Amino acid sequence: MQLELRIEKLVQGGEGFARLPDGRACFVQGALAGEFCRVELTRDKKDFAHGKLVKILERSPDRETPRCANYNKCGGCSLQHLSAEKQALYYESVSRENFRRLAHADLPENFKIHMGPAWGYRNRARVVISRAKDGKVRYGFRMQKSNGIIPFANCPVLTPAVNEFLKANASKIYEESVQNAKRPPRNFELDVNVFDNGNGKVSYYYKGMPAADFEKKAVSVVEIAGKKIRSDASVFFQSNLSLLPELVYAVQNAVDEGIASGEASDAWLIDLFSGVGFFAAILKDKFKKITTVERDDGCLKHAKENLSGGGNVENVSAPAEDWLAKNVVDCPATLIVDPPRTGLPPSALDAIVKSSVNRVIYVSCDPVTLARDFTKFREAGFCLKKAEGFAFYPQTPHLEMLFVLSR
Ligand SMILES: C[S@@+](CC[C@H](N)C(=O)[O-])C[C@H]1O[C@@H](n2cnc3c(N)ncnc32)[C@H](O)[C@@H]1O
Repeated sequence: MQLELRIEKLVQGGEGFARLPDGRACFVQGALAGEFCRVELTRDKKDFAHGKLVKILERSPDRETPRCANYNKCGGCSLQHLSAEKQALYYESVSRENFRRLAHADLPENFKIHMGPAWGYRNRARVVISRAKDGKVRYGFRMQKSNGIIPFANCPVLTPAVNEFLKANASKIYEESVQNAKRPPRNFELDVNVFDNGNGKVSYYYKGMPAADFEKKAVSVVEIAGKKIRSDASVFFQSNLSLLPELVYAVQNAVDEGIASGEASDAWLIDLFSGVGFFAAILKDKFKKITTVERDDGCLKHAKENLSGGGNVENVSAPAEDWLAKNVVDCPATLIVDPPRTGLPPSALDAIVKSSVNRVIYVSCDPVTLARDFTKFREAGFCLKKAEGFAFYPQTPHLEMLFVLSR
């Protein structure tokens, strides 16, 4: 069924929101606020519907022609039709609305979005390399809801260095993995992580890479805020090096303010979900004792090195919830948490609110779990002191957030 609808606003996920004649909400991918569109209903549920944009009858002045040939195919950059300046407004308004809806609270008046370059920013990616029937090696992104691959020659959000690297090396990496795995060079698909350190080196990793190659091919050093951080392409690292210093400075400020106010102290920094010890390494000199906790064993060696050079430092390889269950935090330590999309495991959150921690610096990549966790912190007496947004993934609806909570 087709309908003509006026799009009221953009919502979480970047879809346009309209009301059907019967009052139900209808979400339309690719439509912009204010536009009048012909929409084909693709999912018709009791309380809401989804629609496909068929024709724009009245066009928004904020609309742009998508830059990428794979727009609407790869599922990665679904906001390309919105101008970069308006993306900043989108991030702000959707964050405010989400938080009101999910946490029944307002983000602070001064909540702002940090924006970096709109294109060519992404320094880290997972691509799939395969050999087609014609014998040619191709690479692309795996589609989100299927196993299919969307090939690309140049992805406009990847850094130029990653694009150049793939052009020059995809075939070589494929052959190398065939030889290493001693498997016939048939049509298998090789998942490869690629990582640009922002300073001329692109490293890579695939499962089955010989241990002897790892140091040379996968390991890399990144310089952020004057600090050299060692990592490798097999583990988590932040994906937007241009904007990362702004997040680092915001975290540094939050730490300094906490210590100055007495809500936290310089006696102990606890960096949970620490990856390679990224935040702790940058903040190291401010603290008498440091603990980093990370579940991925691959990070441990790097964390040790990134925090080497003396001091009272322990790098723990364990789930954060397990570490919290076994260790008593009985002083107002400075706590940074940077969990994955799923947010804080419930037992970790419980342990934090029962501890002597009075200030939490929460870095989040998912506004929904952040709002959920915030409500639990609020029940335990915490309030939201500060909130900032970081547009780490322009052209997509994803936003990184920093919350400072205190009680
Ligand atoms: C968003 S990343 C943050 C990493 C680090 N703070 C950084 O900026 O590089 C989340 C990290 O949490 C780790 N992780 C996921 N679940 C965990 C858990 N239950 N306990 C500890 N670490 C976990 C992941 O391996 C990943 O390195």
